Amino acid sequence: MSVLVTVIGLLCCSVLAASGHSSSPCPCETPQLCQPVSGRRDLEVFVFDVGGKTWKSYNWSQVTTVAAFGKYDPELMCYAHSHGARVVLKGDVPLSHIVDPHNRTAWIMEQMKLAKSQFMDGINIDVEQAVEDGSPEQLALTALVKETTDVFHREIPGSQVSFDVAWSPKCIDKRCYDYVAIADSCDLLFVMSYDEQSQIMGDCIAMANAPFSQTLNAYDQYLDLKIDPKKLVMGVPWYGYDYQCINLSKEGICSIEKVPFRGAPCSDAAGKQKTYKWIMKTVNSSTTHRQWDEKQKAPYFNYMSQDGQTHQVWYDDPQSICLKAEAVKAKGLRGIGMWNANILDYSDEPVAKLQTAMMWNALFGC
Ligand SMILES: *[C@@H]1O[C@H](CO)[C@@H](O)[C@H](O)[C@H]1NC(C)=O
Ligand SMILES: *[C@@H]1O[C@H](CO)[C@@H](O)[C@H](O)[C@H]1NC(C)=O
Ligand SMILES: *[C@@H]1O[C@H](CO)[C@@H](O)[C@H](O)[C@H]1NC(C)=O
Ligand SMILES: *[C@@H]1O[C@H](CO)[C@@H](O)[C@H](O)[C@H]1NC(C)=O
Repeated sequence: MSVLVTVIGLLCCSVLAASGHSSSPCPCETPQLCQPVSGRRDLEVFVFDVGGKTWKSYNWSQVTTVAAFGKYDPELMCYAHSHGARVVLKGDVPLSHIVDPHNRTAWIMEQMKLAKSQFMDGINIDVEQAVEDGSPEQLALTALVKETTDVFHREIPGSQVSFDVAWSPKCIDKRCYDYVAIADSCDLLFVMSYDEQSQIMGDCIAMANAPFSQTLNAYDQYLDLKIDPKKLVMGVPWYGYDYQCINLSKEGICSIEKVPFRGAPCSDAAGKQKTYKWIMKTVNSSTTHRQWDEKQKAPYFNYMSQDGQTHQVWYDDPQSICLKAEAVKAKGLRGIGMWNANILDYSDEPVAKLQTAMMWNALFGC
């Protein structure tokens, strides 16, 4: 995920580690709101929250799970529970530390106690490290997910354990996990169908963050492994990439700087991640206005930065998202979610309100 969030994550966990004990008083208006959420709704809407108070403007009739990646906010927990939505902890640990089984158990127990003391309903394991096929880390990771699920289900009734996976199971970004065993060992996989240009092997050019066909074909790769579709939640991006073009061809192809990543010569790391809020502000002052790439089924535009450089921005909007969301129904997946929910414009401006409502509603298809 983004660098920004890693920083917030570290901050959150050091703060939390100091405050976790199991007999904390319920911070909600009524003690019932501190009870874990149980049951399962037809369609999972899995939301990543990175902190702040914009959660107050989410469409709470949709949300089923909030993965709290910001600083722990008891008000968010109470509010989510009042809408029957789960709030889950962020779980991240260096894999080298959990190869040792005692260390692994210790980490799991610590997370479970922290979740319990904060009246949370599970954990989202977000380990995005490179793992070699057949390595001790690969085995340890599978064991980590299985043991975490056992412990959470036992200690927090109705709790949910999820695991974040790359957009395709084919060792993307050198993440050679045992996807089948991991899916078997937890409640759901959140498929991060974005950052799909993290390893560009062909022409080093700006392209869509989550091209339509590539995104959907990768779900078939997961399903071909005989992973139950009801274990898969489709993750869509509410952010895009802003690339500085080192050359813009007359056909509009933007060549980008070569930034290698995990074995690929070129990567979306040449661009900067931008929020949908920023994108909607910038598209109006762009040189091309919104364009639609029919092949990738994604919008983009060019703009000139203050230093006179040409930029190309690729992003997702209700039109590209709803097309992907249709596949959630068509393939019988468990649900949909986004990285991340905070980055829309939740101000009272009428244009922003409309754009924001359309982004939430696009999660249900066109
Ligand atoms: C156990 O985990 C701690 C951090 O939680 C780490 O510092 C240590 O190196 C780990 N030990 C082993 C044997 O992995
Ligand atoms: C820019 O692209 C054009 C083709 O569209 C090519 O002819 C030209 O050599 C390129 N310039 C640079 C500096 O790469
Ligand atoms: C951008 O332009 C559109 C269409 O011209 C307009 O409706 C909208 O209000 C503008 N958005 C912003 C944020 O200025
Ligand atoms: C919130 O989502 C529900 C269910 O999709 C929808 O009916 C409702 O119109 C949405 N609310 C707003 C303010 O867009």
